[in-house]
Amino acid sequence: MILFCSGFSQASAKKGLLVYDSIYGSTVETAYWIKAIIGHEQHLDVKALPQVITIKPYDYIIIGSVTRNEKPSEKIYKFVEENKDELEKKEVCYYLNCGDSDETMVLKVPGQSAHLIAGRSYLIDIQEKFPEIKPVAIAGFGGRQVQPSLGTRDSIQIWLVGKLAKEGVGWEGLDIWESLVMERVEAFSNEVRVKILGLEPRENVEQFRGYWTSLQPASLTNPKLKKFKPKPYTEHRSTGRIYFARSRIKGDLALGISLLQKWAKEAGIDLREQVKTFYNVYYHAVKKYEGEEITIHVVPATLPEDPGNVHVSFRCYEKPDKRKGVEEDVTKAEKILWADGKKVE
Ligand SMILES: Cc1cc2nc3c(=O)[nH]c(=O)nc-3n(C[C@H](O)[C@H](O)[C@H](O)COP(=O)(O)O)c2cc1C
Repeated sequence: MILFCSGFSQASAKKGLLVYDSIYGSTVETAYWIKAIIGHEQHLDVKALPQVITIKPYDYIIIGSVTRNEKPSEKIYKFVEENKDELEKKEVCYYLNCGDSDETMVLKVPGQSAHLIAGRSYLIDIQEKFPEIKPVAIAGFGGRQVQPSLGTRDSIQIWLVGKLAKEGVGWEGLDIWESLVMERVEAFSNEVRVKILGLEPRENVEQFRGYWTSLQPASLTNPKLKKFKPKPYTEHRSTGRIYFARSRIKGDLALGISLLQKWAKEAGIDLREQVKTFYNVYYHAVKKYEGEEITIHVVPATLPEDPGNVHVSFRCYEKPDKRKGVEEDVTKAEKILWADGKKVE
């Protein structure tokens, strides 16, 4: 790679394209924010999908999308399909703006089996459909939903999700709901700098957060409400619909996996792997309680904004009277995870 110095900044010889599909605008905001962190001295065209007629002139392509129905948009799938042969020859990155960014998240709604969602997990399908495109970096940032601006169909869909989601949703009662984790945008942009452009990661990246933050209130009628409430890393919830426990420990994904395997063995649980990525694993932990087979949904995950720690969630959707044994087993799991001072408060 050819690097040359211009003052204090280096410019890579590589030419990039960031192509995005956004419906309500938040994916555009992250596009220009990423460009600012990568550096204006670098060549990076930022274009909406309809402005791109060819990707031939570029060395690397960043593909950014809104998330719809747990995936990038249909237009992004079409773009990747149409440019597949070229993309296979180039360095590619994917990022998503999305509502749910917690990569320990499993969703259960009536009529569907429980499944892994959120953040980078929304990119599993597109990577499976186009396996020859091997992304250099992927990210699921979270995003923004401005309730009064949603079109009628979108409004109905969002309202329905709120009603059906067993563990509630973040946007209830808000005009603007945000879930974006700023550190993820910064980590992703720096991954592009390091892995594609061969540059040092940019320091003092917080100076660019103005690309995202605004004075808009979360609610016009209740100024006390917040647009963005980071999800607690440690949580225990027991309702009629769900038993949920989440915590984090010092360590990496491999440690999280080995401790869960130890727990499963000791508790007589069959740990069945459903999905495995480089940042998380989704397990069905299956055991017979009083003669009935029950599944605990378990996800250990590492998150870009919390390096050095692994987060583990447990979910059980059985009614409270049926899941007493589950709650005891999850308590045992946490004891194993937290032993030797590994627990992070
Ligand atoms: C109809 C509809 C469906 C959505 N589906 C999902 C989804 O499956 N998962 C998710 O995390 N976010 C989902 N979102 C949230 C958006 O991805 C999020 O608000 C994003 O920031 C919007 O990007 P944009 O402003 O660029 O359009 C959905 C939003 C709408 C309106």
